[in-house]
Amino acid sequence: MQRIKTIKDMRALSRGLMSEKKSIGFVPTMGALHEGHLSLVRRSKEENDITVVSIFVNPIQFGLKEDFNKYPRDIDGDLKKLSSLNVDFVFIPEIRKMYPDGFSININIGGIGDIFCGAVRLGHFNGVATVVAKLFNIVMPHRVYFGQKDFQQTVIIKKLVRELNFDIDIIVCPTVREADGLAMSSRNSYLSPTERKSASILYRALKHGEGLILQGKQDASYVKTEIEKILNSEPLISIEYIGIVKPQRLESVEIIDSPVVICLAVRIGTTRLIDNLPVSP
Ligand code: PAJ
Repeated sequence: MQRIKTIKDMRALSRGLMSEKKSIGFVPTMGALHEGHLSLVRRSKEENDITVVSIFVNPIQFGLKEDFNKYPRDIDGDLKKLSSLNVDFVFIPEIRKMYPDGFSININIGGIGDIFCGAVRLGHFNGVATVVAKLFNIVMPHRVYFGQKDFQQTVIIKKLVRELNFDIDIIVCPTVREADGLAMSSRNSYLSPTERKSASILYRALKHGEGLILQGKQDASYVKTEIEKILNSEPLISIEYIGIVKPQRLESVEIIDSPVVICLAVRIGTTRLIDNLPVSP
């Protein structure tokens, strides 16, 4: 496994691979890797000649009061995990090279970035879109792997690729969960043992919603209320949002008569957790 530190080296490498007609799979991450990230890496290894993983905690997708400084970082552990999967290249750019003095471009992805997670994390998705566009231009991949876990992010990245004409396939991989159903996340490490226990209710609430829809319940506000009741039974949890939306454009539905995604965000103490479940009635 080779570690690439500069944008120049990464571009030269990708150009070389392209001239050899090698397909490049790419997994962008912010590190603190867990099985969720590694599932994307495995999928990329299966589907491409070469797999590139980036590790970059992107400052411009964190709000002023968010956890950029305390976001978990474990480069040594990450490199061990990636090398045991035989990843070809790990790209770890420096912040000042990604955002040199005077950098001012910010991709505005429009209203879809201002709802659900974006309503609370102002500017977050524009920061994601900007760094992802930069990484796409640097790595020049054929296929890029994202997790269903960050459902709104996948919708926004697909829009970015469509509207800015990136010649890239976006592949969305299923959410990897802990034994009790909690979606794996680097931020789970913030939870105290008691909070960690209560966090399993997110998946139970989603599964309950799924059950109601599969039983034929079509009224989205009824299903949302039932999910809300379950979440509220856990005193440590405060609900940020519960949505039932169409998968492509995140439009909220009133009647569930085609595939939807149930998505939610909560706070447990100071930790913000998100999860979602696609359901086909
Ligand atoms: P990060 O949170 O590190 O996640 C990197 C990728 O791993 C994302 O596509 C995310 O959806 C996926 N992922 C995280 N947890 C997962 C799980 N439990 N199961 C499956 N996939 C999971 O998302 C980001 O970084 C950043 O916003 C980034 C796209 C790298 C831009 O900075």
